[in-house]
Amino acid sequence: MSTFPINKFANIETPFYYYNVELLKETLECANKEAAKHDDYHIHYAIKANFNPKVLQIISAAGLGADCVSGGEVKAALDAGIAPEKIVFAGVGKTEKELRLALAADIFCFNVESLPEVELINELAAEYSRIARIAIRVNPGVAAHTHANITTGLAENKFGINYELLEETIGSIKNLKNVELIGLHFHIGSQILEMNDFAALCDRINEIQDTLESNLNLVLPNINVGGGLGIDYHQPAKNPIPDFSAYFDAYATNLKRRSGQQVHFELGRSLVGQCGSLISRVTYIKRGTCKQFAIIDAGMNDLVRPALYQAYHEIENLTADGTEQDVYDIVGPICESSDVFAKERSLPVMKRGDILAIHSAGAYGEAMAFGYNCRELPKAYFSTEL
Ligand code: LLP
Repeated sequence: MSTFPINKFANIETPFYYYNVELLKETLECANKEAAKHDDYHIHYAIKANFNPKVLQIISAAGLGADCVSGGEVKAALDAGIAPEKIVFAGVGKTEKELRLALAADIFCFNVESLPEVELINELAAEYSRIARIAIRVNPGVAAHTHANITTGLAENKFGINYELLEETIGSIKNLKNVELIGLHFHIGSQILEMNDFAALCDRINEIQDTLESNLNLVLPNINVGGGLGIDYHQPAKNPIPDFSAYFDAYATNLKRRSGQQVHFELGRSLVGQCGSLISRVTYIKRGTCKQFAIIDAGMNDLVRPALYQAYHEIENLTADGTEQDVYDIVGPICESSDVFAKERSLPVMKRGDILAIHSAGAYGEAMAFGYNCRELPKAYFSTEL
């Protein structure tokens, strides 16, 4: 699988993120091509997955919009040249400062998550003499087949407004002069590989649209279905680009669109997940009584997904000099017992100094890195620069 410039890596201090720019561009092209097969499909890249400025530049150049969840992300999107009219802004706790930034930029739409938030947007928009466009984030009560920490569409989640309270909420905002309700927003979770989950979301959206039409005579011009398309963490070499065709088709088949209605997608992981790897060196091989550890110089602070979600990432020894295998727990140097990348993983025999690639780390990898134990944040290198 190695398309890595290993000879170049030899001189670079580890750990670091390595991005395959060609794969990123191919993935974006494929997503754009598949979306263009349907009328009025719009992709807003979920910046939370990876906000590295160079990654954002490439995504901006590919013409995608942005899905932001903080003022910082709105700023990052604007700095990358993404047009305000392609930016949506979600989040349960948008502060006044963040709302002002987005209002001043006149972004496309605020995905609102509570009535008090709409009231504040209304008040601030008046100050800017603007009518802020809003979409209500509806909690659809649809379960997705994914890790409990990354499902968002169930009733007990903090996200969105429960669909049973939707009509009441619409009634309460009807008289606010400085907001315009332009759509509904949904998101059921992340790392979803079952197209049936998206079909179930469509069924719920259809029900909601029918109810709004019959009870309130209301048809909204935009439906934002969120993100969530997963990637193949087990076989990244075999499946470097997710099946965007099946994903968009699931919506084309199941969502009953009203005439002229736009469909918006907020894809994060599926666009950037496979283009990034975390590169690390083996510091020590330590033998225990019944297992052996490969202690590497990357830690949970560099890539938290295995520690936080028990996530699986393929690990490759880029400098293995034989085919003989052994079994290792691959762990980092952090003073936490959850600082483990893999347990009982069979890999070609490792030795101190070997260089490993932890694959599928382009999404929620660098973006979630932190400085625990006074560790430096990992640097990033791009295939086009090495
Ligand atoms: N839209 C909304 C409202 C979201 O909450 C999310 C992700 C997305 C879009 C993008 O979802 P994606 O297409 O990337 O699945 N840190 C976790 C994932 C957290 C996802 C949070 N929300 C992980 O590493 O698996």
